[in-house]
Amino acid sequence: MCGIIGYTGRNEAEGIMLDALEVLEYRGYDSAGIAVCGEDHQVRIRKCAGRVKDLRSLCERDGLSGVCGIGHTRWATHGGVSDANAHPHQFGGVTVIHNGIIENYKSLIAQYKLEEKLKSQTDSEVAAAVASHFYNGDPYAAIRKTVLKLKGTFALGIMFEDIPDVIFAVRNVSPIVVARTEEGSMMASDVTALGQYSKDYFVLPEFHVATLKKESVELYDMSGEPVEPQWLTVNWDVNRSSKGGYPFYMEKEIMEQPQVIRETIEPRMKEGLPDLTQDGIPDSLLTECSQICVVACGTAMHAGLVGKALMQSFVKMHMDVELASEFMYTDSLVDGKTLVIAISQSGETIDTLEALKYAKRNGAKTLAIVNVKGASIARESDYVIYTNAGPEIAVASTKAYTTQLAALYLLTGRMAYARGVFDEAATRAFMAELQRAPEAIQKVLDRREEIHYIARRILNAKDVFMIGRGMDYSILLEGSLKLKEISYIHSEAYASGELKHGTIALITQDTPVIAVITQDKVQSKEFSNVKEVQSRGAEVILFMKENYRLDEDASWDSVFKLPQMRDEFMVMPVSAALQLLAYYVSLDKGLDVDKPRNLAKVVTVE
Ligand code: AGP
Repeated sequence: MCGIIGYTGRNEAEGIMLDALEVLEYRGYDSAGIAVCGEDHQVRIRKCAGRVKDLRSLCERDGLSGVCGIGHTRWATHGGVSDANAHPHQFGGVTVIHNGIIENYKSLIAQYKLEEKLKSQTDSEVAAAVASHFYNGDPYAAIRKTVLKLKGTFALGIMFEDIPDVIFAVRNVSPIVVARTEEGSMMASDVTALGQYSKDYFVLPEFHVATLKKESVELYDMSGEPVEPQWLTVNWDVNRSSKGGYPFYMEKEIMEQPQVIRETIEPRMKEGLPDLTQDGIPDSLLTECSQICVVACGTAMHAGLVGKALMQSFVKMHMDVELASEFMYTDSLVDGKTLVIAISQSGETIDTLEALKYAKRNGAKTLAIVNVKGASIARESDYVIYTNAGPEIAVASTKAYTTQLAALYLLTGRMAYARGVFDEAATRAFMAELQRAPEAIQKVLDRREEIHYIARRILNAKDVFMIGRGMDYSILLEGSLKLKEISYIHSEAYASGELKHGTIALITQDTPVIAVITQDKVQSKEFSNVKEVQSRGAEVILFMKENYRLDEDASWDSVFKLPQMRDEFMVMPVSAALQLLAYYVSLDKGLDVDKPRNLAKVVTVE
């Protein structure tokens, strides 16, 4: 969490950094700040609690001139949301921006007697103070000694006042990417902030120091030996990082889904069959395992639940789906016969990364489904399937989720084929249905105004229930998370057959119920469950497969008919409908859809 940026070059740094911080704001938006090295070699800071727009106003009133600077947008961990706790932090002649957590900051305060000298309550200022303590003109020695003292995760951008126009970067776990542009050098938490300046970048290896100068970028290991960076190319169009005329990124990202799902599926299809050779995934990986386990968080974990239903019903394989944050603490049983799949949009979620490392230590084979190229989880895994969703900026995940689903369908298809569960005809039929998903989603998107109308029915609700069975329940868990995080309405997804075992006590005329019915084998039971909540006075908003017939005796408040696919693929159109529902509730409540309170897009703290 937290976004960091650094620029040194021929142009004024302030505007470049403010623009980049706006792009990075999805990583945290409690406060923002920049430091710029002026012509007189003084490093000056502007920072404030609030958003980057507040910092921009501050800079408009009292700007900073200079061609080298570092900037930060914060998600608060240590120390409240205040001007003083905003980054950058300056101690002596050292100025620092930090993403991560310095776990031993208290003992460092004691060891270096910093108690009376610090101006903030942050762990980050302590890193600046320790670097200042060690600095005697040799930046590399100071950085090396500092990082040896730090326990925890960190991505640090550092400026030394007597080394003008040079930025040093070092990291452990928390990400930093570095790029050369036509007229300078840049670093950032992720490539989306750099995309408009350069397509070529490298991921700063852990415990290496990048030195950014106007004319060059240098990379050294901790012993001071030069290292050749491994350059990568940005794999998406920079225009995809803009809102493209939509009021919020979330709407744009929902609307992009048919295209990005196609872009995830099509390169992995050969003559109607799933083909993972471009990802370097051998069939042996899929045939030699005896169980599968997904580790993931939030939305990515919900994608895993759909994957579990697919694997069990088509491949007849046992699959667990574990919350990555719990995985290591529940004595999870994985071994050399387990295929562990880590799913992550950002590829940086620390819980997922740590769970993956745990799985590797226990001998499991690992496969990552990741969106951001070169991210830590991708690099840590034996194999990677990249989703081609392009940059996802809104905190609420939408297109990343459906492209993760697409990857899981591909994997299921290939696995069933490789293990001989599907013959060629069955595999082709499965893949043909997957190829229909973008069209089914598009049909829902084309009717978004109907969903906008329906959304008004829950605008003032305090609590909402979402009910369904089987795969309908899996997708409702995601729909419910979406509604909670961006509308602040308490919402609970419930397996509808389970309601009568206690929770139905909460259903009254004041608790709207959203029901999803798309699974033929449980259809009649799902309709019965809906009647049960209607009998308790609940207003029911129903999303159902278009060929189902409604009981004419019952009265229906709102019904949205979903384009028909095979049952196992209905999650695709349903997810688009539930994303739009949450979006319109948040929009009509006048909330900041893309930046819901207390959240950040990339969760790099445990
Ligand atoms: C959902 O809308 C959230 N953004 C969140 O649950 C997210 O899916 C989770 O934090 C995992 O992130 P990742 O996919 O980047 O690992």
